[in-house]
Amino acid sequence: MAVTGVIFLLFVLAHMYGNLKALSGQQAFDDYAHHLRVLGEPMLPYSGFLWVMRVGLIVSLVLHVWSATVLTRRKRGARTQKYTVKKAVGSTLSSRTMMWGGLALLLFIVFHILQFTTLTIEVGGSFDSPHERFVAAFETWWLLAIYVVAMVALGMHLRHGVWSAVQTLGWSNRHRQPAIKATALAIALVVVVGFLLPPFAIAFGIV
Ligand code: HEM
Repeated sequence: MAVTGVIFLLFVLAHMYGNLKALSGQQAFDDYAHHLRVLGEPMLPYSGFLWVMRVGLIVSLVLHVWSATVLTRRKRGARTQKYTVKKAVGSTLSSRTMMWGGLALLLFIVFHILQFTTLTIEVGGSFDSPHERFVAAFETWWLLAIYVVAMVALGMHLRHGVWSAVQTLGWSNRHRQPAIKATALAIALVVVVGFLLPPFAIAFGIV
Protein backbone atom coordinates (compact mmCIF):
# COMPACT_ATOMS: atom_id res chain seq x y z
CA MET A 1 0.00 0.00 0.00
CA ALA A 2 2.78 2.42 1.01
CA VAL A 3 5.00 1.72 -2.02
CA THR A 4 2.18 2.14 -4.55
CA GLY A 5 1.05 5.23 -2.61
CA VAL A 6 4.52 6.76 -3.09
CA ILE A 7 4.32 5.99 -6.84
CA PHE A 8 0.95 7.82 -6.99
CA LEU A 9 2.35 10.76 -5.03
CA LEU A 10 5.25 11.13 -7.49
CA PHE A 11 2.83 10.93 -10.43
CA VAL A 12 0.45 13.46 -8.89
CA LEU A 13 3.31 15.94 -8.22
CA ALA A 14 4.62 15.58 -11.80
CA HIS A 15 1.08 15.94 -13.23
CA MET A 16 0.41 19.01 -11.10
CA TYR A 17 3.67 20.61 -12.28
CA GLY A 18 2.73 19.89 -15.92
CA ASN A 19 -0.75 21.41 -15.48
CA LEU A 20 0.78 24.62 -14.12
CA LYS A 21 2.21 25.16 -17.61
CA ALA A 22 -1.36 26.01 -18.66
CA LEU A 23 -0.77 29.33 -16.83
CA SER A 24 2.07 30.16 -19.28
CA GLY A 25 -0.29 30.15 -22.26
CA GLN A 26 -1.33 27.96 -25.16
CA GLN A 27 2.11 27.48 -26.75
CA ALA A 28 3.78 26.36 -23.49
CA PHE A 29 1.02 23.88 -22.63
CA ASP A 30 0.59 22.45 -26.13
CA ASP A 31 4.39 22.03 -26.44
CA TYR A 32 4.41 20.22 -23.10
CA ALA A 33 1.57 17.87 -24.21
CA HIS A 34 3.48 17.19 -27.45
CA HIS A 35 6.79 16.52 -25.63
CA LEU A 36 5.06 13.96 -23.40
CA ARG A 37 4.21 12.00 -26.54
CA VAL A 38 7.65 12.14 -28.21
CA LEU A 39 9.64 11.62 -24.98
CA GLY A 40 12.20 8.81 -25.42
CA GLU A 41 11.98 8.75 -29.24
CA PRO A 42 13.48 7.04 -31.23
CA MET A 43 14.20 4.42 -28.50
CA LEU A 44 10.45 4.42 -27.72
CA PRO A 45 7.62 4.68 -30.29
CA TYR A 46 5.29 7.74 -30.38
CA SER A 47 3.38 7.87 -27.05
CA GLY A 48 5.65 5.05 -25.77
CA PHE A 49 6.55 6.93 -22.57
CA LEU A 50 2.85 7.56 -21.86
CA TRP A 51 2.11 3.86 -22.28
CA VAL A 52 4.92 2.84 -19.89
CA MET A 53 3.45 5.30 -17.37
CA ARG A 54 -0.12 4.07 -17.95
CA VAL A 55 0.87 0.41 -17.41
CA GLY A 56 2.83 1.36 -14.26
CA LEU A 57 -0.16 3.31 -12.90
CA ILE A 58 -2.66 0.52 -13.67
CA VAL A 59 -0.46 -2.13 -11.96
CA SER A 60 -0.01 0.23 -8.96
CA LEU A 61 -3.76 0.86 -8.80
CA VAL A 62 -4.59 -2.87 -8.79
CA LEU A 63 -2.02 -3.50 -6.01
CA HIS A 64 -3.21 -0.45 -4.02
CA VAL A 65 -6.90 -1.50 -4.13
CA TRP A 66 -5.99 -5.14 -3.40
CA SER A 67 -3.92 -4.11 -0.33
CA ALA A 68 -6.77 -1.85 0.85
CA THR A 69 -9.22 -4.78 0.59
CA VAL A 70 -6.91 -7.16 2.50
CA LEU A 71 -6.28 -4.54 5.22
CA THR A 72 -10.01 -3.76 5.62
CA ARG A 73 -10.86 -7.48 5.90
CA ARG A 74 -8.08 -7.96 8.49
CA LYS A 75 -9.31 -4.94 10.47
CA ARG A 76 -12.91 -6.21 10.45
CA GLY A 77 -11.79 -9.77 11.35
CA ALA A 78 -9.85 -8.45 14.34
CA ARG A 79 -13.10 -7.40 16.02
CA THR A 80 -16.06 -9.65 15.36
CA GLN A 81 -18.32 -7.95 17.92
CA LYS A 82 -19.53 -4.43 17.19
CA TYR A 83 -18.76 -1.59 19.64
CA THR A 84 -21.85 -0.56 21.63
CA VAL A 85 -20.67 3.04 21.54
CA LYS A 86 -18.13 4.09 18.91
CA LYS A 87 -16.41 7.43 19.33
CA ALA A 88 -13.64 8.79 17.15
CA VAL A 89 -10.82 9.46 19.61
CA GLY A 90 -7.51 10.79 18.28
CA SER A 91 -8.38 10.07 14.63
CA THR A 92 -8.68 12.70 11.89
CA LEU A 93 -11.49 13.10 9.36
CA SER A 94 -8.88 12.24 6.70
CA SER A 95 -8.09 8.89 8.35
CA ARG A 96 -11.78 7.96 8.80
CA THR A 97 -12.66 8.63 5.17
CA MET A 98 -9.84 6.67 3.47
CA MET A 99 -12.12 4.00 1.98
CA TRP A 100 -14.94 6.26 0.74
CA GLY A 101 -12.49 8.96 -0.31
CA GLY A 102 -10.47 6.37 -2.23
CA LEU A 103 -13.61 5.10 -3.99
CA ALA A 104 -14.62 8.68 -4.87
CA LEU A 105 -11.14 9.26 -6.33
CA LEU A 106 -11.46 6.08 -8.38
CA LEU A 107 -14.75 7.35 -9.85
CA PHE A 108 -13.16 10.74 -10.52
CA ILE A 109 -10.19 9.12 -12.34
CA VAL A 110 -12.57 7.15 -14.62
CA PHE A 111 -14.48 10.38 -15.43
CA HIS A 112 -11.19 12.27 -15.87
CA ILE A 113 -9.78 9.74 -18.36
CA LEU A 114 -13.06 9.71 -20.32
CA GLN A 115 -12.81 13.51 -20.46
CA PHE A 116 -9.14 14.29 -21.17
CA THR A 117 -7.61 11.05 -22.53
CA THR A 118 -10.24 9.23 -24.60
CA LEU A 119 -12.23 12.49 -25.20
CA THR A 120 -15.46 10.51 -24.80
CA ILE A 121 -16.94 13.25 -22.60
CA GLU A 122 -16.31 16.66 -24.13
CA VAL A 123 -17.09 19.63 -21.90
CA GLY A 124 -17.16 23.09 -23.53
CA GLY A 125 -16.67 21.84 -27.09
CA SER A 126 -14.12 19.84 -29.10
CA PHE A 127 -10.67 21.25 -29.89
CA ASP A 128 -7.42 19.91 -31.34
CA SER A 129 -5.30 22.00 -29.01
CA PRO A 130 -4.93 20.49 -25.49
CA HIS A 131 -4.80 24.05 -24.05
CA GLU A 132 -8.05 25.12 -25.74
CA ARG A 133 -9.68 21.90 -24.48
CA PHE A 134 -8.44 22.64 -20.96
CA VAL A 135 -9.67 26.27 -21.02
CA ALA A 136 -13.08 25.50 -22.56
CA ALA A 137 -13.67 22.76 -19.97
CA PHE A 138 -13.01 24.92 -16.91
CA GLU A 139 -15.16 27.77 -18.16
CA THR A 140 -18.01 25.38 -17.29
CA TRP A 141 -18.97 25.93 -13.63
CA TRP A 142 -20.22 22.42 -12.85
CA LEU A 143 -17.00 20.86 -14.12
CA LEU A 144 -15.02 23.21 -11.89
CA ALA A 145 -17.24 22.12 -8.96
CA ILE A 146 -16.55 18.41 -9.68
CA TYR A 147 -12.79 19.08 -9.73
CA VAL A 148 -12.89 21.12 -6.52
CA VAL A 149 -14.67 18.26 -4.69
CA ALA A 150 -12.26 15.68 -6.19
CA MET A 151 -9.17 17.72 -5.23
CA VAL A 152 -10.42 18.12 -1.64
CA ALA A 153 -10.92 14.32 -1.54
CA LEU A 154 -7.41 13.88 -2.97
CA GLY A 155 -5.93 16.26 -0.38
CA MET A 156 -7.57 14.37 2.50
CA HIS A 157 -6.53 10.99 1.08
CA LEU A 158 -2.95 12.24 0.67
CA ARG A 159 -2.77 13.78 4.12
CA HIS A 160 -3.53 10.50 5.87
CA GLY A 161 -1.84 8.40 3.16
CA VAL A 162 1.53 10.16 3.47
CA TRP A 163 1.43 9.89 7.27
CA SER A 164 0.45 6.22 7.08
CA ALA A 165 3.13 5.36 4.49
CA VAL A 166 5.82 6.88 6.74
CA GLN A 167 4.64 4.58 9.60
CA THR A 168 4.58 1.50 7.33
CA LEU A 169 8.05 2.18 5.94
CA GLY A 170 9.39 2.44 9.50
CA TRP A 171 10.59 6.05 9.28
CA SER A 172 8.51 7.24 12.19
CA ASN A 173 9.05 7.55 15.93
CA ARG A 174 7.30 9.46 18.73
CA HIS A 175 9.58 12.52 18.48
CA ARG A 176 9.16 12.81 14.71
CA GLN A 177 5.33 12.64 14.85
CA PRO A 178 4.62 16.42 14.80
CA ALA A 179 7.06 16.95 11.89
CA ILE A 180 5.56 14.02 9.93
CA LYS A 181 2.00 15.29 10.47
CA ALA A 182 2.98 18.83 9.39
CA THR A 183 4.80 17.50 6.29
CA ALA A 184 1.79 15.35 5.30
CA LEU A 185 -0.51 18.39 5.64
CA ALA A 186 1.91 20.59 3.67
CA ILE A 187 2.17 18.05 0.80
CA ALA A 188 -1.63 17.74 0.67
CA LEU A 189 -2.05 21.54 0.58
CA VAL A 190 0.59 22.00 -2.15
CA VAL A 191 -1.13 19.36 -4.31
CA VAL A 192 -4.65 20.76 -3.82
CA VAL A 193 -3.61 24.40 -4.41
CA GLY A 194 -1.28 23.48 -7.31
CA PHE A 195 -3.96 21.46 -9.12
CA LEU A 196 -6.71 24.03 -8.56
CA LEU A 197 -4.69 27.12 -9.61
CA PRO A 198 -5.06 26.61 -13.41
CA PRO A 199 -8.83 25.78 -13.31
CA PHE A 200 -9.54 28.86 -11.12
CA ALA A 201 -7.30 31.06 -13.27
CA ILE A 202 -9.40 29.96 -16.26
CA ALA A 203 -12.73 30.40 -14.43
CA PHE A 204 -11.75 33.99 -13.44
CA GLY A 205 -10.59 34.81 -16.98
CA ILE A 206 -6.88 35.20 -16.02
CA VAL A 207 -5.80 32.56 -18.57
C1 HEM B 1 -7.44 19.96 -11.30
C2 HEM B 1 -6.98 18.74 -11.44
C3 HEM B 1 -6.57 18.09 -12.74
C4 HEM B 1 -6.55 18.62 -14.01
C5 HEM B 1 -6.95 20.00 -14.47
C6 HEM B 1 -6.05 17.57 -14.89
C7 HEM B 1 -5.87 17.70 -16.26
C8 HEM B 1 -5.47 16.70 -17.10
C9 HEM B 1 -5.28 16.83 -18.53
C10 HEM B 1 -5.48 18.12 -19.32
C11 HEM B 1 -4.89 15.62 -19.01
C12 HEM B 1 -4.56 15.27 -20.46
C13 HEM B 1 -3.06 15.45 -20.68
C14 HEM B 1 -2.67 15.16 -22.11
O1 HEM B 1 -3.31 14.32 -22.74
O2 HEM B 1 -1.70 15.76 -22.56
C15 HEM B 1 -4.85 14.70 -17.89
C16 HEM B 1 -4.53 13.37 -17.97
C17 HEM B 1 -4.50 12.49 -16.89
N1 HEM B 1 -4.72 12.80 -15.58
FE1 HEM B 1 -5.23 14.62 -14.86
N2 HEM B 1 -5.79 16.45 -14.13
C18 HEM B 1 -6.10 16.73 -12.81
C19 HEM B 1 -5.99 15.88 -11.73
C20 HEM B 1 -5.64 14.55 -11.81
C21 HEM B 1 -5.53 13.66 -10.70
C22 HEM B 1 -5.80 14.05 -9.27
C23 HEM B 1 -5.18 12.43 -11.19
C24 HEM B 1 -4.95 11.15 -10.49
C25 HEM B 1 -4.82 10.97 -9.21
C26 HEM B 1 -5.06 12.56 -12.61
C27 HEM B 1 -4.74 11.54 -13.47
C28 HEM B 1 -4.60 11.66 -14.81
C29 HEM B 1 -4.31 10.55 -15.70
C30 HEM B 1 -4.11 9.09 -15.27
C31 HEM B 1 -4.25 11.07 -16.99
C32 HEM B 1 -4.07 10.29 -18.27
C33 HEM B 1 -2.72 10.22 -18.78
C34 HEM B 1 -2.84 9.41 -20.07
O3 HEM B 1 -3.02 8.21 -19.96
O4 HEM B 1 -2.77 10.00 -21.14
N3 HEM B 1 -5.34 13.86 -12.96
N4 HEM B 1 -5.20 15.39 -16.75
